[in-house]
Amino acid sequence: MSADEWWRTAVVYEVYPRSFRDGDGDGVGDLEGVRQGLPYLSWLGVDAIWFTPWYRSPMVDGGYDVEDYRAIDPTFGTLEDAERLIAEAAQLGIRTIIDLVPNHVSSAHPWFQAALASEPGSDARRRFWFHPGRGPEGADPPTRWKNNFGGPSWSRTTLADGRPGEWYLHLFAPEQPDLDWRHPDVAREHEVLLRFWFDRGVAGVRIDSAAHIMKDPELPEDDGSHAPGRHPNLDRDEVHPVYRRWREIADEYDPPRVLVGEVWIPDRQRFARYLDPDELHTAFNFDLMTRPWDTASYRDSISLMLEAHAPTGAPCTWVLSNHDVTRPVTRFGREHSGFSFEEKAWNVPTDLALGRRRAEAAALLVGALPGSLYIYQGDELGLPEVEDLDLAEIQDPMYFRTGGANPGRDGCRVPLPWRGQEPPFGFSPDGVRTWLSQPAAWATLTVAAQVEREQSTLNLYRWMLRHRADLPADGFAWIDTGAADVLAFRRGDTVCVTNFGSADQDLPDGLYVYLASAPSRRGVIAANSTVWATPRR
Ligand code: NOJ
Repeated sequence: MSADEWWRTAVVYEVYPRSFRDGDGDGVGDLEGVRQGLPYLSWLGVDAIWFTPWYRSPMVDGGYDVEDYRAIDPTFGTLEDAERLIAEAAQLGIRTIIDLVPNHVSSAHPWFQAALASEPGSDARRRFWFHPGRGPEGADPPTRWKNNFGGPSWSRTTLADGRPGEWYLHLFAPEQPDLDWRHPDVAREHEVLLRFWFDRGVAGVRIDSAAHIMKDPELPEDDGSHAPGRHPNLDRDEVHPVYRRWREIADEYDPPRVLVGEVWIPDRQRFARYLDPDELHTAFNFDLMTRPWDTASYRDSISLMLEAHAPTGAPCTWVLSNHDVTRPVTRFGREHSGFSFEEKAWNVPTDLALGRRRAEAAALLVGALPGSLYIYQGDELGLPEVEDLDLAEIQDPMYFRTGGANPGRDGCRVPLPWRGQEPPFGFSPDGVRTWLSQPAAWATLTVAAQVEREQSTLNLYRWMLRHRADLPADGFAWIDTGAADVLAFRRGDTVCVTNFGSADQDLPDGLYVYLASAPSRRGVIAANSTVWATPRR
């Protein structure tokens, strides 16, 4: 594997800039905070950082509502800060991946403001999806397409004289109008943006909502009967030429830049099409995240995803969580331990001790799989989802657009605890209130506390990443253990064994355990745990 292919095995750490670390003491994370945290990330052993959007934004959707793709939001810093951060990270051997959001812009973006100020049918409006409504007075939206945050997918504009005007499409919040990718300005602008950031040394981009960008201009309803590639607004065949063009641009650079797709579609064959050799380098594999903590289900998901990737030549990615989903420690402690947006609700009981144990076992399991690994900030600390946030603090549009029925995603976005006995735990200077409150119970979960504690989640991650670096890039084979609760596979000289059950199990004979998510007696693998072992010599 050449150095340019670093992304095939990379450990990518996801930074949610508002919540990593606060460098200027305003209670919100920023780039200076990340800069201060670089030695930590280097010590942990990550290969790259993926930053969720850091651009100028009204922050209606945590920065996924971008007002200016060429500027850093003032809460986070300046463009110079970003350039310095990219360079300082590179000096530590850490690459930078940024988030590009092509499906929509912020309603504060100059294009959308110009569109609102222009006539129906104008060029400025054709960069978006403006349409007259249906029914008498156009009072009904053009379609009933599902909105990803709940509520309608169209909002109506108001004319200068106060009368209602056209509707515009937004598959997410109303403050995130969808772009019309058939307009030549849209494609051109994104090519310029790719170069803008590639020229500044970013190693790659994570492409937000990558499968959503094309829509059927006939605006049919989604009656579930469409042929593959013909859904009204998801995974349409026309997305592929866009990403092939992006690949050409990425390949112009030395070293070539990398494209990572957020492709959240269930059909594995359709998913794999994004990974054709002239398209994206990798895409997030979300299948495993939706699976319950269960031997057969994990085996099934891993096999299916490795198989789906094989013909493309692209590596699989392994993702246990991110800034949109319930923290693993909380999820794995639940009866329904696979993640689903639909099931997200208030007051679902969880057993955090069990959840932590399984989350550690899962981390070691995915860490041993071939491909690249994503770690969402704070998972290495075993942070639980914060499910009792003060309602007045909640910011996520998912909460508001479901009328509070869905708690939203803020519970996994609480600022990280770094040190000390009480909030803000070194995230901000003492006495500063963080933008989401941290639980007092996090005193035992701070970075400082866990560095000291030999058996901490943090030390487990750190050792795992050290040993992971010694695993071969390729090669994977299941090992049949004969035990229904035990999943085992081989990676070079290493055998990874997970016990999904609630009782201890015998470890296959002749193995010497060198890494374990929980202590076990010799010859045994403890309940809900994973070990890495080598044949005893
Ligand atoms: C996916 C992102 O991960 C999520 O946080 C965001 O709300 C949507 N895309 C819309 O941009």
